[in-house]
Amino acid sequence: MIKPHGSDELNPLYVYNTQRRHALLAEAENLPSLLLNSAAAANAVMLGGGYFNPLTGYMNLADALSVAEKMHTVDGLFFPVPILNRTSETGIEAGSRIALRDPNVEGHPVLAIMDVEAVETISDEQNAFMAEKIFRTLDPQHPGVATFNSLGNILLSGPIDVLSFSYFQADFPDTFRTAVEIRNEIAEHGWEKVVAFQTRNPMHRAHEELCRMAMEQLDADGVLIHMLLGKLKPGDIPAEVRDASIRKMVELYFPPNTVMVTGYGFDMLYAGPREAVLHAVFRQNCGCTHLIVGRDHAGVGDYYGGFDAQTIFDEEVPADALQLEIFKADHTAYSKKLNKVVMMRDVPDHTKDDFVLLSGTAVREMLGKGIAPPPEFSRPEVARILSDYYQSLET
Ligand code: ADX
Repeated sequence: MIKPHGSDELNPLYVYNTQRRHALLAEAENLPSLLLNSAAAANAVMLGGGYFNPLTGYMNLADALSVAEKMHTVDGLFFPVPILNRTSETGIEAGSRIALRDPNVEGHPVLAIMDVEAVETISDEQNAFMAEKIFRTLDPQHPGVATFNSLGNILLSGPIDVLSFSYFQADFPDTFRTAVEIRNEIAEHGWEKVVAFQTRNPMHRAHEELCRMAMEQLDADGVLIHMLLGKLKPGDIPAEVRDASIRKMVELYFPPNTVMVTGYGFDMLYAGPREAVLHAVFRQNCGCTHLIVGRDHAGVGDYYGGFDAQTIFDEEVPADALQLEIFKADHTAYSKKLNKVVMMRDVPDHTKDDFVLLSGTAVREMLGKGIAPPPEFSRPEVARILSDYYQSLET
């Protein structure tokens, strides 16, 4: 199987040994506590599951600045996005051991224990430098920038032991997976070539066909549909609705044992190209050999060019940085001429009118009124689940 990023074996930071975990949980009750923000909590969940291998904890300021600038830590490890624990809390000292509490679960249970190696202040200039590099904009309207600017300017760095997977296991018992579990399942299937499909949306015909096309063109053994289960911006579709609609699509339209429907516990960054590279790193850690990157991958609004998330792999990711390869997908849509979903680059004779193209807003409006989008755009069984959800919002 493909090796993880940066090491021969995956090194998840979750404490799998039950006895040790219970001992650490008991210890945590007597440690000073820090209530994490959701971004830092999501980072802990990802570190716990092995997704951010080979990191051993939260980055310090020098690494954060270096990673933001050139996607490498000071020591030369390739990593696309700073993984940070930022806070506004003063009074935490370097050298201390603290309990990190979960902001997303009632009662704020302990999520991890951290050995605080350094406590540093992020200046406004450093914050802006990082935001601009990660998001390619400083516009406070950008949801990722808005979150980044709100996380506090005190940076705590150091290794962590992760003691829970937050709300993800309880809320998505069938779907949430760690990178460790995905590797194990891929091995159980006996798959060698595995294509990952990143998603934060329901899957319509174009997405379904993208998976099929990638699978056929790469002669892959299976597809990992890997959905984001963490926080999204207001208006995006909740994970349980996306999960139900994706499961229905896979059940009805894919042969058994060719698709794994899974999810990961991370908040969306909306960082477009940089997030696509992060996606590639953590799919390699899951044991996938390929990642589909299509149009406006991990984008939002008009902040990124439609295919910036592909060109970053050619222009900014060193050739030997990753073992996983990118499957570059062109804009995909249903062709009325050919009566099938196609990639636009494959049908140069087509004009815009030859495709069934619907904006997200138009689709939302139709579903909200109980009108099914055309079957060329959306599977009727998928549309029904989404329509029920949108109609439940109206009442
Ligand atoms: S993302 O933020 O998770 O990337 P989304 O779930 O909408 O958003 O997209 C999942 C994947 O499908 C991404 O790789 C995206 O680029 C790709 N994609 C979505 N729609 C299309 C499309 N019509 N044509 C080509 N690629 C697409």
